[in-house]
Amino acid sequence: MSRVTAASVRAGKQAGEKIAMLTAYDHPSARILDEAGVDIVLIGDSCGMVIMGRPDTLSVTMDEMVHHTRCVSSAVEHALVVADMPFLSYQVTAQEALRNAGRLVVKGGAQAVKLEGPADKFGLSIKAILQAGIPVMGHIGLTPQSVNQIGGYKVQGRSPEARNRLKQEAKGLEGIGCFAIVLECIPADLAAEITEMLTIPTIGIGAGSACDGQVLVLHDMLGWGHTKFCKAYADVRGMMGQACEAYVGEVKSGAFPAEEHAFE
Ligand code: KIV
Repeated sequence: MSRVTAASVRAGKQAGEKIAMLTAYDHPSARILDEAGVDIVLIGDSCGMVIMGRPDTLSVTMDEMVHHTRCVSSAVEHALVVADMPFLSYQVTAQEALRNAGRLVVKGGAQAVKLEGPADKFGLSIKAILQAGIPVMGHIGLTPQSVNQIGGYKVQGRSPEARNRLKQEAKGLEGIGCFAIVLECIPADLAAEITEMLTIPTIGIGAGSACDGQVLVLHDMLGWGHTKFCKAYADVRGMMGQACEAYVGEVKSGAFPAEEHAFE
């Protein structure tokens, strides 16, 4: 099986291929995703909330993103590895943005980066990263790094003005050279219009079925996190709870370890 690349993801739109993307933050999970045929593994800055127990993504640092990206990239042989650029790693200057994207590639082993927001705000950063040969995935709609400005994790693009703005933002990101765009938490009909309008693929989360692909947070789809707009494909939380209770019971009763678990 040949390796998924930013170019193959982009070209897949013409062939009508749907993209399956999931987040991963650690090596063993990333290996399972890759073996299952996931096209894109995203080291999302959602790691701040999902595995670090923080209230939002804002405090996630470049060092943390590089660390998790390295854990994931060393496990993946087939999927495209995309790393999120954390808050303030690309918003200050284009030079800093390029250096930080470069760290995710050189130290982390990512093949592309994702950043939140439109080209009219972050175009200089996106251009600098692209010019260095690093593919960029856009992300519009609900952009969690702007949660304090948005006033919560709310559906975006409901008013006619907001719909038009999102369409312009999507066009702008395509125009500047992004290879794909995440559409987060927007009405399904708007996501369908944007998907129809663009030559690059859209990857939806809470954006309906018309997108060219879907992305979910791994822990949510496994039933190990929260499941707001997410279908739970397993009850990993329940399974882990049962396994831990069984272990506690066997340690207390002396049933574990048995002879076969001990060394001579
Ligand atoms: O950080 C993340 O996990 C993301 C996805 C929800 C798209 O950006």
